[in-house]
Amino acid sequence: MIRVAVIGIGSISDAHIQAYRTFRNRCEIAALCDIYVDKAEKGRQRYQLGCAVYQDYQELLQRDDIDLVSVCTPPYTHAEIAVNALKCGKHVIVEKPMASSLEECDRMNEAAAAAGKILSVISQNRFGDTIAKLKRVLDSGLAGNIVHAQVDSFWWRGYVYYDLWWRGTWEKEGGGCTLNHAVHHIDMLQWLMGMPEQVTAVMNNTSHDNAEVEDLSIAILSYPRALAQITSSVVHHGEEQQLIFQGEKARVSLPWRVTASTSKENGFPQQNHELIEAINDLASQVPALSYTGHQGQLDDVLTAIENGTGDVVVTGQEGRKTLELITAIYQAASTGASVRLPLPPDSPFYTRDGIMANAPRFYEKKTSVAGFSKNEITISGETK
Ligand SMILES: NC(=O)c1ccc[n+]([C@@H]2O[C@H](COP(=O)([O-])OP(=O)(O)OC[C@H]3O[C@@H](n4cnc5c(N)ncnc54)[C@H](O)[C@@H]3O)[C@@H](O)[C@H]2O)c1
Repeated sequence: MIRVAVIGIGSISDAHIQAYRTFRNRCEIAALCDIYVDKAEKGRQRYQLGCAVYQDYQELLQRDDIDLVSVCTPPYTHAEIAVNALKCGKHVIVEKPMASSLEECDRMNEAAAAAGKILSVISQNRFGDTIAKLKRVLDSGLAGNIVHAQVDSFWWRGYVYYDLWWRGTWEKEGGGCTLNHAVHHIDMLQWLMGMPEQVTAVMNNTSHDNAEVEDLSIAILSYPRALAQITSSVVHHGEEQQLIFQGEKARVSLPWRVTASTSKENGFPQQNHELIEAINDLASQVPALSYTGHQGQLDDVLTAIENGTGDVVVTGQEGRKTLELITAIYQAASTGASVRLPLPPDSPFYTRDGIMANAPRFYEKKTSVAGFSKNEITISGETK
């Protein structure tokens, strides 16, 4: 039986606690922790758990019987809590974004390697049936080399969203929609297409003059023989999100759509019905996942602990890649100059202090509330 602690009993902790409860024959929640200890206590009662509650996470890390820690706190705390948990010999699942700087990611990965423990970064959208089909198709080469990707990470958040105490500052949230919302799509892009060589970007805060950070960014990524574009936004009504890959031979996308053209004698397009059918056939052979979203990722980590392999789908190195891409977007948008990858440690944006010194503060954060009376959130899920 794997014994688990959940640190940070706010909105997203529900997805972790519910998933662990699904696997109650494999794991047991032994501790809940929040700096507002009443939130941990309320969680314990709401989920009818017979576990201990803590205000200081360091105390629960001293317990030898806890094997795995879910870090569900704000971004600026992820590195400190994860590193301390790993040093105490715990496996760690950390919520997205992995951290608020690459320097922190590197410390987290070093701590995991030194402890020989698992560090997994939440990217629940990788655990979905449609993205599994998309990955199989792209890996098969049926669509040919990818020449263009279009990532629309469109979200909408009202003005008061940034009033929550830790949101809306470079120091505590670590960034705006590019880091905290588009992280899901940027992670999927780098998983499916790899890392670009160069990044160009612009960003702005168009509608939230109560936040230092951006609410809209547009980035262009250069690959050796391809371009990609990422729009990260919390100002898009309807939140219509998509991830479109244009291969030399076919287009495949989330939401799922396949089209393919061949050339007529004069170079104009005609539909390649055979290829469309072949791609849809391959996609239909991909077996349905037993668990999706947070359940899927937590199952992956529990399985790796049970098997003693330590092999998880989303490692700390994978989380770092996604953060490197986001950091490059911030650097390019802040300086107005294109950024080549990999980002070296002497990049001005490598540390959190460097980001805070060099990123634009669009507006001053004016209001800070401890919480909202109804804190229901929508969690990024699969676009089918
Ligand atoms: N995967 C997803 O789709 C998804 C969705 C929402 C949020 N998140 C991420 O989850 C994290 C938390 O977001 P949230 O919306 O749940 O925020 P939240 O404010 O609702 O909850 C965070 C909780 O952490 C507590 N906390 C802060 N510092 C702490 C510390 N040092 N020790 C213990 N508890 C501490 C806070 O009191 C709060 O209760 C963020 O990194 C966010 O980006 C992920």
